[in-house]
Amino acid sequence: MVIHKVKTYRNMSKKAANIITAQVITNPASVLGLATGSTPVGTYELLAEYCENGDVDFTNVKTVNLDEYYGLDANDEQSYRYFMNKHLFEKINIDIRNTHVPNGRADNIDEECRRYEQLISSLGGIDLQLLGIGHNGHIGFNEPGDSFPKETHCVDLGESTIKANSRFFNSIDEVPKKAITMGIGTIMKAKRIILLASGEDKKEILKKALFGPITPSVPASILQLHNNLTVITTIDL
Ligand code: F6R
Repeated sequence: MVIHKVKTYRNMSKKAANIITAQVITNPASVLGLATGSTPVGTYELLAEYCENGDVDFTNVKTVNLDEYYGLDANDEQSYRYFMNKHLFEKINIDIRNTHVPNGRADNIDEECRRYEQLISSLGGIDLQLLGIGHNGHIGFNEPGDSFPKETHCVDLGESTIKANSRFFNSIDEVPKKAITMGIGTIMKAKRIILLASGEDKKEILKKALFGPITPSVPASILQLHNNLTVITTIDL
């Protein structure tokens, strides 16, 4: 594990955007695993800027997102598909057909999970996975539990996650209670992982995840076992 301690959110975003850019320059047909949430927004802004300047070309890049709320349509402003289109895909020269997010409106949720897992395999796996971390240690929507889920699956969201995510909705009642997420196994198979964390409110959980026991009660703690993990954080650990 390599930890980069940086001063500001902007510095964190710059380092992450630079690593992603280097990845795409080195392999223009990279498969990027992407996250939503507040943490990667600055990274996406910079990638859009680099692309606009002609410093990086996403023409042949493919992306797979970590997760999607179950029940929300792609056009719903709260859906992760909508978020990705708005914050990144509409601002870079990627072919939208090469961008993948689980289908939150699939009729058969289990089939959709299988399809998504297979899709990732058929793309040859993820070259670089970008991650944020939840206050309860979740990555993707893999919530604390008794075991590490292997593959893409449907989850019941934990109370603290519903509460944390309610800031994007009109009321807490509007937050979906279920989601589709890549499994811990799917994430761990990525060739490289970049974990971003900023803000003192993430300090305690980040410490537990990186230096505490490896346990499904802190899902991100499994990342200690990944052989190519880069952590970029503003937090003094
Ligand atoms: C988002 C995701 C989540 C977030 C986490 C942190 O696709 O998978 O695990 O990374 O909830 O969210 P923020 O960045 O909003 O603190």
